[in-house]
Amino acid sequence: MTSTQTPLRLAILGTGGMGISHAREILAHPDATLTALCDINDAALDRAATRLSLTAETGPQRFTDLDLLLEQPDIDAIVIATPHTQHPDHIRQSLQAGKHVLCEKPMATTAADARAAIALAEQNHLTLAIAYQRHGEARYKKAHEIVSSGILGDVRLITVLIAQDCLQNFLPGATWRADPNLSGGGHFMDTGSHIVDMMLWVSGLEPERVYAEIDNHGTLVDVITALSLRFTNGARGVFAATSLSAEPWREELSFYGTEGVLNIRSEGLSYQTKTGDKIYPRTEGRNTRPIENFIATIRGEVPHPQAPPMYGLRVAQVTEAAYKSANSGQPERVG
Ligand SMILES: NC(=O)c1ccc[n+]([C@@H]2O[C@H](COP(=O)([O-])OP(=O)(O)OC[C@H]3O[C@@H](n4cnc5c(N)ncnc54)[C@H](O)[C@@H]3O)[C@@H](O)[C@H]2O)c1
Repeated sequence: MTSTQTPLRLAILGTGGMGISHAREILAHPDATLTALCDINDAALDRAATRLSLTAETGPQRFTDLDLLLEQPDIDAIVIATPHTQHPDHIRQSLQAGKHVLCEKPMATTAADARAAIALAEQNHLTLAIAYQRHGEARYKKAHEIVSSGILGDVRLITVLIAQDCLQNFLPGATWRADPNLSGGGHFMDTGSHIVDMMLWVSGLEPERVYAEIDNHGTLVDVITALSLRFTNGARGVFAATSLSAEPWREELSFYGTEGVLNIRSEGLSYQTKTGDKIYPRTEGRNTRPIENFIATIRGEVPHPQAPPMYGLRVAQVTEAAYKSANSGQPERVG
């Protein structure tokens, strides 16, 4: 692919696993330049440069100081891939410096921080998007379309499961994910964030109340989570997450409507109405990656990000109410 447009100039903040993944997509994009890498850890910058085959002479500039990075006039946008509790400050500083922001999930660990980020982006007329990649995946887009079409009637029950074999990430001292001051929570805050987001986006329902049973299993963060939810239309939801599974990954969502049911499974998507046969809709369409969509949004080629910051707020509202409920032992209002 070639382009005649002036490339958009992006920087990565946090050059670990996900920062490298985003950097690779920027390098492959015809309308974008990877202008800078920033990480507080020199070794992480070196590792990223090696993995991306970047040289000191021709590669992007490297920074260990965010203030210095944000002073650079030749950067249009920042991709944030740092530990969770740092996201709100990194978003705020980037927006205040006039940069567009693509932030990794979760956008914020509290609803107040999420609201402040959205307000600042609006005031500054800058794009703020979340790297919730499922919004751009053909399977989830199709599920969203089917539920929105009304063919399943009113969704009255949602059941959701995310099971992974990833307890090692949360063992004390293992990674920042094990430290609540940096992660803001465990498996529920981490992969669980994607699944709560899909529960809300595909259904289009607004959560009202949540009751949580959470088990830290000897760690400092949640590693097993069971939620019971009620939505504003009276529908109910059940959410389960475990990082102690023997299977590497199981992701299952079901949406039970008054006229039909839709199932999202690893094997694919299917739905059945009361009057029809089971249908396996085609979902081979192209996936739109967060970086591609972010660049298209800034360029005005699409009207808004595929994962708008409102979903960062809605997920933060649910996670915050769930942690509150786990502490109080009572159902808590989502708000
Ligand atoms: N969308 C997805 O599927 C997906 C998958 C994995 C991770 N993530 C998200 O990406 C983010 C990063 O996760 P990861 O797995 O890449 O973690 P990681 O530990 O591999 O990388 C994080 C990097 O941030 C750096 N860092 C920490 N504090 C910093 C600061 N103040 N300024 C600059 N750099 C700083 C660390 O040195 C490290 O290099 C998290 O929000 C995580 O939830 C998303």
